[in-house]
Amino acid sequence: MSERHPSAPSDTSPPGGERRRLHGGKPVGIALLGCGTVGGGVLTLLARERERLAARVGAPLEVRRVLVRDPKKVRVEACDVRWVTTDVDAVMSDPEVELVVEVMGGEGLAGDLVERALRAGKSVVTANKALLAARGKQLFALAAEHRADLGFEAAVGGGIPIIRALRDQLAGDRVERLFGILNGTSNFVLTQMTELGQGFAEALADAQARGYAEADPTLDVGGFDAAHKLLVLATLAFGAEVTEGEIAIEGIRELEAADIEHARRLGYVVKHLVVGRDHGDAIELRVHPTLIPRSSVLANVSGVLNAVKIEGAALGPCVLSGRGAGDLPTAVSVVADVIDVSRAIVAGAPGLVTRSVAIARRPLRAAGLTEVRWYLRFPVADRPGVIAKLAAALGDAGVSIEQIEQGPPPAEGDAPVDVVIVTRTAREDAIRRALAAIELGAIEGQPFVRRAPRALRIEEP
Ligand SMILES: NC(=O)c1ccc[n+]([C@@H]2O[C@H](COP(=O)([O-])OP(=O)(O)OC[C@H]3O[C@@H](n4cnc5c(N)ncnc54)[C@H](OP(=O)(O)O)[C@@H]3O)[C@@H](O)[C@H]2O)c1
Repeated sequence: MSERHPSAPSDTSPPGGERRRLHGGKPVGIALLGCGTVGGGVLTLLARERERLAARVGAPLEVRRVLVRDPKKVRVEACDVRWVTTDVDAVMSDPEVELVVEVMGGEGLAGDLVERALRAGKSVVTANKALLAARGKQLFALAAEHRADLGFEAAVGGGIPIIRALRDQLAGDRVERLFGILNGTSNFVLTQMTELGQGFAEALADAQARGYAEADPTLDVGGFDAAHKLLVLATLAFGAEVTEGEIAIEGIRELEAADIEHARRLGYVVKHLVVGRDHGDAIELRVHPTLIPRSSVLANVSGVLNAVKIEGAALGPCVLSGRGAGDLPTAVSVVADVIDVSRAIVAGAPGLVTRSVAIARRPLRAAGLTEVRWYLRFPVADRPGVIAKLAAALGDAGVSIEQIEQGPPPAEGDAPVDVVIVTRTAREDAIRRALAAIELGAIEGQPFVRRAPRALRIEEP
């Protein structure tokens, strides 16, 4: 690895001129770990933009190795078969590899290889939010220790430059709130439910048929993928080191067509949101399906699109939106990091301290203290006195009602009727207390709530 050069030329130097000499006139050697959806996109983009990228970096980018599981698989055209290998050691011990692009996914082997690369002083670019959420702190420390870079723009929001926005552009401001739609699968499912009136299972099957959802969709529709992304954003937005177990995560599996329809009548759209707030003394991090006003910018982010809305104390609101997944959009972010890190390598200055972000443990506000308005749906017996009982239980818990609606009488004799309540701003622990009392409640010895009530937060992003 080259030495830091005190007179590294600025980006205005002639392409490939002075800077190429700095790197001994050599190309920057790159290894890819994985060549699936994202890896294939990266190789395609590197080949397609070869000349332009060399001019930007000041040296050609040379792919030397591509680690895969199955060497016989047909790859994208840009993947030269001579690069393809299953030999981990051949990849990791190649002295000409200065930059490792991790696009294999998972936390185990991928994490071990990223660690190994950093220990050898090789810089790393990764698209792996699960890895960062689980082992990010150790990996960033290793990168700093070994003067290597660790780029991760593609880990959140696919092709949207949200990491750069938070790390660089907004570094001089204080982020007060952020809202994000960060899981394309969940957003697609909710869009189908909203626009076509599909139920959850039908919309999910549709997403799977189109390749937008995995055979096991738990990470996506369970909210965990979005939570991993929120953890990564929280480090940049709030300087906070948080682990997955500390935040409340709700997915979209429990949503029913009835909730989407009630929300629509009330003027809202249901979105799976990540929410972050800085209260100064503590931060608030949540992931859950949420009612947002139909007029909100985020309400119109449909299908597999992603978006993030950031509110800076000085800047005010700022929205980034675009394709959050897919081979080429994600490759745009990976290649942006490849350029960035390669420039540092060429300038002899990888692992510059200016890239690092200070993070520390910060107190998380307890979920019970969250204050929002709530949408509550109670499938109840169609009997007199039910609404009064609901209102009393909410009142006893200190929750005020803003709006209350009762569905039409049941088509069949004893079928439940939906009572929908929108509350004023209320603390989550008060809502939970009221729901527990209502579920236990009875009229004339009979429980009047027929099925579990649904409680969804209302936000105004
Ligand atoms: N897909 C997206 O739109 C997207 C967007 C943003 C971020 N990401 C992240 O990018 C990463 C890659 O996602 P992807 O969709 O490209 O995955 P993918 O299509 O499944 O590709 C994974 C690649 O890694 C290789 N691989 C997996 N396990 C391996 C092992 N044990 N040894 C050697 N090679 C192994 C596979 O080899 P074979 O080809 O031989 O099986 C494959 O080439 C993940 O961390 C994901 O979260 C993906």
